[in-house]
Amino acid sequence: MSDIRRPIAVIDSGLGGVSVLAYLIEQMPNEDIVYFGDTLNAPYGSKAQETVKNITLANLRMLIDKYSVKALVIACNTATGAAASACRETFTDLPIIGIEPAIKPAVLKSGKDNPNILVMATPLTLAQEKFTSLAEKYNPNSSIIALPCPGLSELIERNADDSEIRSLLGELFSSIDIMSIDSIVLGCTHYPLVADIIKEFFKDASLYDGGKGTAIQTKRRLEECGICTDFDKKGNILFLNSANDPEFENSARKYIKKIKGEK
Ligand code: DGL
Repeated sequence: MSDIRRPIAVIDSGLGGVSVLAYLIEQMPNEDIVYFGDTLNAPYGSKAQETVKNITLANLRMLIDKYSVKALVIACNTATGAAASACRETFTDLPIIGIEPAIKPAVLKSGKDNPNILVMATPLTLAQEKFTSLAEKYNPNSSIIALPCPGLSELIERNADDSEIRSLLGELFSSIDIMSIDSIVLGCTHYPLVADIIKEFFKDASLYDGGKGTAIQTKRRLEECGICTDFDKKGNILFLNSANDPEFENSARKYIKKIKGEK
């Protein structure tokens, strides 16, 4: 297969990465994509950093060996923090793009002098050096409030009822002064899949996530590397998941429609 026609790999611990995949398809409709949801090892957010790093390295090795992928998008904030550097050091020829919590746009677009920015993410994302240095960078001009959300990605992953998600969010937000929050950063790729329910709690705050920015960045990297496909047909999306769940692709496609506002 010609080099530029090889697929792009997109990985997450499960369905969350489709909130990035939806924008990748929009930005690069002709690219073939292999989407890998690591359902068997989910959730990543309650694991140790070293464990997530090793899992991610092994998954990437498999995607290179089996699918000859030409680039990797880590559509998981937790895995980006734990493994992006190690992946870049190990697979030096592969462009690797990772998502990170969208604190920068949240601060810049808030229109306030010292906005209160709530960052929702997994416990591991918020405990990692990558997040603390990002938060420190913006702290002089804003108040960054980090809110670990254990259990939330698991509910989304298993398609829990809205009422169950609402009830967990109620508990998670009980320690927060809701009225004081100006912007919310969805720092886990699962959370945009329930943005409508999160929004119910914060009538006036704006929500930010890194899905679109990561897709734009991916397109830019492929262009820089000269590896954009020359196909003019619609790209093929292959859905894989490590638990071989037969419902995975249906759930993924349903969530892509939700992200794009289609019913
Ligand atoms: N979707 C992942 C993220 O963006 C994590 C979910 C999990 O805990 O597995 O961080």
